[in-house]
Amino acid sequence: MNEPLRFDGANVLISGGLGFIGSNLAIKLVALGARVTIIDSMTPEYGGNLLNIAPVEKQVRVNISDVRDAYSLRYLVQGQDYLFNLAGQTSHLHSMRDPYTDLEINCRAQLSILEACRENNSKLRLVFASTRQIYGKPSYLPVDEKHPLRPVDVNGINKLAGEYYHILYHQVYGIPTCVLRLTNTYGPRMRIKDARQTFLGIWVRQLLEGQPIEVWGGQQLRLGGDERISLADLGTLLVRLHGGGTCKICEFPDERRKIDIGDYYSDDRLIRGELGWQPATPLREGLQKTLDYYREHLPHYV
Ligand SMILES: NC(=O)c1ccc[n+]([C@@H]2O[C@H](COP(=O)([O-])OP(=O)(O)OC[C@H]3O[C@@H](n4cnc5c(N)ncnc54)[C@H](O)[C@@H]3O)[C@@H](O)[C@H]2O)c1
Repeated sequence: MNEPLRFDGANVLISGGLGFIGSNLAIKLVALGARVTIIDSMTPEYGGNLLNIAPVEKQVRVNISDVRDAYSLRYLVQGQDYLFNLAGQTSHLHSMRDPYTDLEINCRAQLSILEACRENNSKLRLVFASTRQIYGKPSYLPVDEKHPLRPVDVNGINKLAGEYYHILYHQVYGIPTCVLRLTNTYGPRMRIKDARQTFLGIWVRQLLEGQPIEVWGGQQLRLGGDERISLADLGTLLVRLHGGGTCKICEFPDERRKIDIGDYYSDDRLIRGELGWQPATPLREGLQKTLDYYREHLPHYV
């Protein structure tokens, strides 16, 4: 097994660091002793929120800038040991309604980031957040790394290109890049205003505001490893953990049905074997922590 990475005293840049995953990462990295710089555009439709970094606001440097600005990137990557590249347009539906913005952020800007690294800091370790959406409708379950790549929406195509740029720059220029295909990430600091980021976000909001949870379809399976669950059962579990509320099963809106991937859950044996990784938080506990967080902070997220 490889040596564990050390973050104590390391310079770490996080693009999209005011968003859900980036802010949780920033909090963890500060605790590990890293010097964290965040780049985020704070585009209102995306998940950036200054409250997300409240626990570390005095310890991190925040640069409100856009990864589409190649000049800023050239400067910001200098002197960094790590770059967690998380800035992205995350909505599948909006990638269909506004494909060019998705292209600019999830594809073209990724090339600019890699060019900035090649020209100014080719030694930094770079982790790119890709998505399970690049697999499209699964041909078999659980989905593993050998599954064919057949994205069903513009977002999936652009994320796939972004992913391949990272792999290419490793192969050709030796930049130590690594790609993680994330799926159904949830927890404190996710966007709950609407369903742009994840259906679980809007469900949490509906529940805490006393509205029925709207479950589209309901029989689709999600998550991975040892824990897989239908959306209908997930809604029921959330209601039970909250101690009240209801779920309403609804017809899939037509616009969404066309890009829905049906059942998806992942095979995590490779990462467990290679890196010794395993999930640290069981589903019930994760959902409970999420509800507790938004009960306390709801007004800042709606
Ligand atoms: N959450 C998930 O389930 C999931 C699943 C698969 C992949 N991902 C990927 O993980 C990454 C992080 O996702 P998240 O869930 O934290 O989303 P998020 O929307 O909470 O965070 C993304 C952040 O990037 C920022 N951003 C967007 N465009 C930018 C730009 N042009 N310049 C600078 N900042 C910009 C946003 O303001 C936001 O703060 C994304 O790339 C996403 O595609 C997430």
